[in-house]
Parts: sequence; structure tokens; C-alpha cells
Amino acid sequence: MSTAVSTSRTQRDPALTGQTVVLLGGSAGIGLETARLARAEGADVILVGRNAERLERAARAVDAQSTAAFDATDVDALERFFEGQPKPVDHVLVTAGGPHYQPLAEMDFAEARRTVEEHLWLPLQLARIALEAVRPGGSLLFMGGTGGRRPAVGLTVGGTLTTGSPALVANLALEIAPIRVNLIAAGFVDTPLSASILGDQLEARRTELRETLPIGRVVGPEDVAALAVHLMTNTALTGATYDIDGGQQLLS
Ligand SMILES: NC(=O)c1ccc[n+]([C@@H]2O[C@H](COP(=O)([O-])OP(=O)(O)OC[C@H]3O[C@@H](n4cnc5c(N)ncnc54)[C@H](OP(=O)(O)O)[C@@H]3O)[C@@H](O)[C@H]2O)c1
Repeated sequence: MSTAVSTSRTQRDPALTGQTVVLLGGSAGIGLETARLARAEGADVILVGRNAERLERAARAVDAQSTAAFDATDVDALERFFEGQPKPVDHVLVTAGGPHYQPLAEMDFAEARRTVEEHLWLPLQLARIALEAVRPGGSLLFMGGTGGRRPAVGLTVGGTLTTGSPALVANLALEIAPIRVNLIAAGFVDTPLSASILGDQLEARRTELRETLPIGRVVGPEDVAALAVHLMTNTALTGATYDIDGGQQLLS
């Protein structure tokens, strides 16, 4: 009797059955893990990335409905992609783009401009497109970081975008309601991006984080994926920023 009660309390239907999730940046890291979890929750997933070969590998791994290889900051390509969808999609996660660390004296302005494209113009353009391309009550989800919140040499561009992004999603949430708009702000996440930035320092960084983070382990892309799927499915959430860093900001 008590077993039957506890079983019925823990069983639930998949949270995204019948829904379609687009991952702009779905062939690796946080986007790919979110695609995997969304599939497990019953969604169809559509993966976007620039490298077609990596994209096809990822699509096979998660049994994606379709893929499209293009640069998400290319507005014409982004528009064509959404126009090509047979019906409005339910959720879009943007993991395209990366961080920017460069002291002003050494700044490559083309690279800096590209970072602004990724973290300001892409969200704005996507929100405009979403008015037609995302169903009311669906959601847009953007990625930001926590590392750029404290000023430091090399963080002028990254820090400006980091601190501005919560205002961006809050305003967009009003502009395109009832489509919901949220931001995930991550600390270190163990993904191919982190590996490429840290190179041979990666293992030392993982060890340091395991020894110092309050959670006693490194945050992985599957942790961020769990938060992303929650933000897609909890219809009370919009206009807000959700930190996920294992307590990294609490350390001095
Ligand atoms: N990892 C971290 O510690 C961390 C922390 C805070 C914030 N973030 C942010 O979270 C996001 C995802 O990070 P991640 O670690 O998952 O990165 P990742 O492992 O490098 O994966 C990024 C994915 O996005 C695709 N992509 C990148 N630029 C694109 C573009 N312009 N158009 C279309 N697809 C693009 C990549 O494929 P292609 O290269 O083939 O296009 C790949 O599928 C980034 O914005 C990153 O800055 C990461």
C-alpha cells in the first residue's frame, strides 16, 4: 500500500511531450546536453551550429528532428531558418557565442564587435523573429556568465554585456509577452568551450574547483541543461536571470 502511494507520487509525464525545442548552438556543450534532456522529456529538437560535421554527429546522438548549419548571428540566415519551420516552435535556447577577455590596449575590435553581435544583437533580432516564430507562452532562453560581474582588466566588453544582459531579458520579456524570456548566468561549466580556453590548465582548474566550490564538484553541462528545461516548462518564470555556479561567486 505505502509502495503504491510513493510510486504514484514520483511518476510523472515527460514535461515537453509534443513540444519543439530549437538549440541555436546545439552541437556541443550546454546546447547539446539540453537537447539530450529535452528529448528525454519528450520534445522534438532542432539543432543549429556552424560546423556541419559536428552538427550531424550531435543530431545522431540525440535523434534530432532536423539540423541547420549556419552562423546564428547572420540575421538573414536566422530569419530564413525560422520561416522554414512548418509551425511556431515552443522554446529556443541560444548557446551560440562565447566570452570576451581582452585588455583595451590589446583589443581586437572586430572580435569585440562580434561578441556584441552574439550577446546583444542576436537576442534582439531573435526576439523580433520570435513574435511570429515562437508560440505564445513558449520561451526564449539566453546564456550569460557570472564571471564578468566584478570589474577587471580585460573584462570591459564582457563585463558590460554580462551586467547588461539581465536588463535585456527583463525588457524583452515585456516587449514580447506572453512569450517568456530568461537568462542563465553560469560560472565555470565543464564543456568543450572551457577546454579550448584553458588548454593544458583544464585539469588543474577542475581540481581547484572541486577543492574550493561549496558543492565540492565541478558544474557540468547537464546541470545547466536541467535548469534550462525547468525554465522552459515552468510557465511562471519570465524576465529573470538564474545563476548556476556551484557557489563560485561566494568565494573571494
Ligand atoms: N562553459 C562555460 O564555462 C560557460 C560559462 C558561462 C557562460 N557560458 C556561455 O554559454 C554558451 C555556451 O557555452 P558552451 O560552453 O556550451 O560552448 P561550446 O561547448 O563551445 O558549445 C557552443 C555551441 O554553439 C555553437 N555555436 C557557437 N557559435 C555559434 C554561432 N555563431 N552560430 C551557431 N552556432 C554557434 C557551437 O558549434 P559551432 O562552433 O560548430 O558553431 C556549439 O555547438 C556560450 O555563450 C558561453 O559563453 C559558458
